[in-house]
Amino acid sequence: MKSFKGKVAVVTGGGGTGIGNALVRAFASEGAHVAYCDIANLNKTEKDIEAFGVKKYAEHVDIADKEAIKRFADNVLKEFGHIDVLINNAGIATGDISFDKVTEADFERITNINYWGVIRTTQAFYHHLLTRPEAAIANISSTQGILAAPYLVSYCTTKFAVRGFTDSLRVENQVRGIKNLSIHTVHPGAVATNITLAADHQGPRSQHFHKVLQEKGASPAEAAKIILKGIRKNKSRIFISDGRAQDIMARLFPSSLHKIIGLMMKMQGAEIT
Ligand SMILES: NC(=O)c1ccc[n+]([C@@H]2O[C@H](COP(=O)([O-])OP(=O)(O)OC[C@H]3O[C@@H](n4cnc5c(N)ncnc54)[C@H](O)[C@@H]3O)[C@@H](O)[C@H]2O)c1
Repeated sequence: MKSFKGKVAVVTGGGGTGIGNALVRAFASEGAHVAYCDIANLNKTEKDIEAFGVKKYAEHVDIADKEAIKRFADNVLKEFGHIDVLINNAGIATGDISFDKVTEADFERITNINYWGVIRTTQAFYHHLLTRPEAAIANISSTQGILAAPYLVSYCTTKFAVRGFTDSLRVENQVRGIKNLSIHTVHPGAVATNITLAADHQGPRSQHFHKVLQEKGASPAEAAKIILKGIRKNKSRIFISDGRAQDIMARLFPSSLHKIIGLMMKMQGAEIT
């Protein structure tokens, strides 16, 4: 997809202040019409894109609710007649918590949002996207979908799953000769958002993780720019900030990762409990 001008882009988790909000702004600034949903307030994003003069549709949706996803997809298609790009961005982190303390309810909650939300939203638009002359789906995994991290077991599990789903769908499409729908797996490293502070469980490392994101992370606007560029250039895997470095580390040192991660945490002053 060479240009987004005049296209219709859908972004889940497009309200709020994070990567989703920046994606909606980036698409609108390039002349794309935008549809977005969020469980959070939608007003900020609406104000942010006012000046671009593109068409917009916004709906309050809990992405864990499969009926709400179907309704959203129907409403978007009714509003615009078609869509061209889907970005599955909505996501949460369980927070700083070791596996012995994570409950089944914690696992279910994050899986319903981060994993089932992506699958169901993709299913809701997939058949339609196959009919478009040129279309794209980008799913936001994480570097924690490549490199396992401690105290984030449930988060990593969902992000590995999103990577598996997205990579499998891309290969299937490619083998089937489907050329009009590109599928992209996005692996952000650190991005300076409030995802850590918004997590259900705050632990001794939460402030540290949050600080790392703010100090070392790309801005949400930079992240959105890289994602749009990756789609334009038809990159299968899109890396943000230290995403590429973490990918290389996971490949080079699969058996000694725990030592490197433990050492890095100690050097950064993060408590190991
Ligand atoms: N910030 C990072 O460093 C980072 C790194 C890797 C991956 N990611 C991924 O990027 C995506 C965006 O995260 P972010 O950092 O912008 O965080 P964020 O918390 O700023 O944004 C997440 C958005 O998803 C929305 N959301 C949460 N639960 C929802 C639900 N049930 N239904 C609908 N919307 C819901 C939130 O309201 C928010 O607007 C997530 O999938 C996250 O896992 C972030």
